[in-house]
Amino acid sequence: MVDLMVRSLARAACIDDLREMARRRIPRFAFDLVDGGAENERNLRRNVEAFQEIALTPRYMVDVSSIDTQATLFGKTYAAPFGMAPIGMLNAFWPGADLMLARLCKRENIPYVASSAASTTLEELAEAADGNGMFQLYVSGDDSVTEGLISRAEAAGYEVMMVTADVPAAGKRDRDIRNQLAVPFRFTPEVIAQCAMKPLWALTSLRHGTPNVANYANLLQSATSYAEVQKTLITPGFSWDSLAKIRARWRGKLLVKGILHPQDAVKCAEMGCDGIVVSNHGGRQVDFGPATAEVLPGIAGAVSDKLTVIVDSGIRRGADVLRAHALGADFALVGRALAFGVGAGGAAGADRAIALLKLELVRALGQLGARDMAGVGSDHLTAAMPRPPL
Ligand code: FNR
Repeated sequence: MVDLMVRSLARAACIDDLREMARRRIPRFAFDLVDGGAENERNLRRNVEAFQEIALTPRYMVDVSSIDTQATLFGKTYAAPFGMAPIGMLNAFWPGADLMLARLCKRENIPYVASSAASTTLEELAEAADGNGMFQLYVSGDDSVTEGLISRAEAAGYEVMMVTADVPAAGKRDRDIRNQLAVPFRFTPEVIAQCAMKPLWALTSLRHGTPNVANYANLLQSATSYAEVQKTLITPGFSWDSLAKIRARWRGKLLVKGILHPQDAVKCAEMGCDGIVVSNHGGRQVDFGPATAEVLPGIAGAVSDKLTVIVDSGIRRGADVLRAHALGADFALVGRALAFGVGAGGAAGADRAIALLKLELVRALGQLGARDMAGVGSDHLTAAMPRPPL
């Protein structure tokens, strides 16, 4: 069984192949939870397409016999210029996914961002990621909940925290509505039927127990409904004033995740943040919004001398990481790409996803004529190439 799995993982040539393998192993409601986006999913597709539409022009006759994919982020050197984005409730997609990914990121020396809404506590994830962990904060409408998370993150040893700004309202995800998704799961006849068709997922899930938002366990006990807990994750009142309070409170590096406008990025710099994540939550929030690749150059142009610029949303290939870098990003995060890996084959599948992204990255660097990330720049952007005189 395990052998079979390893052999089929070896045949996966790209992240899309892992996605397809995950789709076949996971009940629809759980697959859709990760795979889906807001409304028509236009923004979800636009993210992927916008990266893939960007042409980089190779330069040849550069000695690329030795290629180095390392990248530095907040003084720490990682093996690759990408890391795992924060994903809430990922154990619903594949049981045990959070810890598998945190441990793997440590082993592969890439960053792992633990979500406030993870299905594993931030303390367990800090231990598993062992120095490679960063913490993502959802600001609660209840200040004591936010303070509780911040002090726990501090005590757990996280040095970098990213505050997610792009959830002033809940994303409207049509697939989840159609699937009648509820947290904790309601075992409706439809859900039971879907689980019965995916026995490995069902048995593994039974062993692990029903996933939940582990950091809010106390709240879950006293709340009368999950909707009540959700109110602490979605904060219409989160404002620049709230950010100022968090900046004053958090002594470590602080980033704002979910920036799409250059003026918001400039304001983050003025408020003393250390970085931003140019992100649209992987197309899960605003279907009418722009792709991150579209807004990245303007944002990087405005703040790259003041802030660390990270980007996510739509990265599915190693070459997309290079495209992001050419557009001005210092680092990239990937969400679904690694989640699909875990869905396709647990820890071995996530390992395959990282290996594929790295393989593609190394090949693309060589093809581009760059020995390392510093060798990739805006001069590789085909659109920016000088035109010959007519
Ligand atoms: C997310 N994302 C997210 N972001 C965040 O700040 N906190 C969170 O808890 C979550 N949860 C979450 C769940 C699921 C199922 C997905 C797919 C995404 C957004 C995530 O961090 C990241 O911005 C996107 O996943 C990036 O897009 P790609 O790489 O998935 O295209």
